[in-house]
Amino acid sequence: NCISDYSIYELTKELKLLLKVDSIAHKGIRGRATIIAGGHAKMGAVILAAKGTLHSGIGLLSVQVCPLCIDIIQNQIPEALILEDENDYVLGSFLGYNKQDVLVFGPAIGFANKTIKLLEEILKTFKGQLILDADAITILAKNREMLELLPEGTILTPHHGEFKRLVGNYSNNFEALMQLKSFCKHHKVVVVLKGKFTAVCNEKGQVSFNTTGNQGMAKGGSGDLLCGILAGIAPRVQNPFETAKLAVYLHGFSGDISLKEYGENYMTPSTMISNLKDTFKKVE
Ligand code: APR
Ligand code: MG
Repeated sequence: NCISDYSIYELTKELKLLLKVDSIAHKGIRGRATIIAGGHAKMGAVILAAKGTLHSGIGLLSVQVCPLCIDIIQNQIPEALILEDENDYVLGSFLGYNKQDVLVFGPAIGFANKTIKLLEEILKTFKGQLILDADAITILAKNREMLELLPEGTILTPHHGEFKRLVGNYSNNFEALMQLKSFCKHHKVVVVLKGKFTAVCNEKGQVSFNTTGNQGMAKGGSGDLLCGILAGIAPRVQNPFETAKLAVYLHGFSGDISLKEYGENYMTPSTMISNLKDTFKKVE
């Protein structure tokens, strides 16, 4: 537990270059992302994540949804390809398969048996960058044998409540950090432990603290948007730790612009999506 394991994230020129693509760019260079989230009457999570991905530079976005939800997605996100999951309200099997560079699984996805099976299938077979959030994390916590299936370099994005389900209770930030480092080292994953000062930890136990963001982001949907930004930049950044640190920074930066523009009460994850415009100008 040495001091060199800890750093404060700062945007550098090199980091900015990660998001640049050549002038001959085609969709493949920007990458392909799939989002599996939400569900009947919970499509807000999908929409916020999907808009986050689209406005973070993805080449091609797919969303896997049940038939009842297709109209909602087509209305809200005309850019998205739809992978129609005919398995009723809950999700059956993964339709995007290995054409995808990145897959987000979890926000508001629920705990149906089919959904748990689908997560298991994904853990065993998906070869791209996997991002697990929210209910996916709770599923892992309740089915602990599935933790052993986590592919190396998976990004998990728990808030403290979700992280405690994974590692057990802790009573202060120091204990939280120790749990964070040991979880990441043991499972060889990147964890984004979300809160006022989000900590991102890699499989070596190195921790980076984020400095952007504010209390106006403490609203339902902010976490879904973070998943979207992660997926939008992951194919270009090509490294889970760098992806996570940069996405958390951009997410908070967008929140800080929303705070200035709208104030902490009016701002929402949706205003943050529109402020991604100004955020990406800073890194382009
Ligand atoms: N300062 C800076 N950032 C903050 C702050 C703060 N005071 N409060 C929240 N955030 C950021 C977090 O760092 C994180 O990126 O907002 C995001 C919130 O993400 P989540 O906690 O995952 O919230 P979200 O999933 O959008 O919505 C809450 O989660 O536990 C469930 O049932 C709960 O529906 C609720 C949902
Ligand atoms: Mg959440």
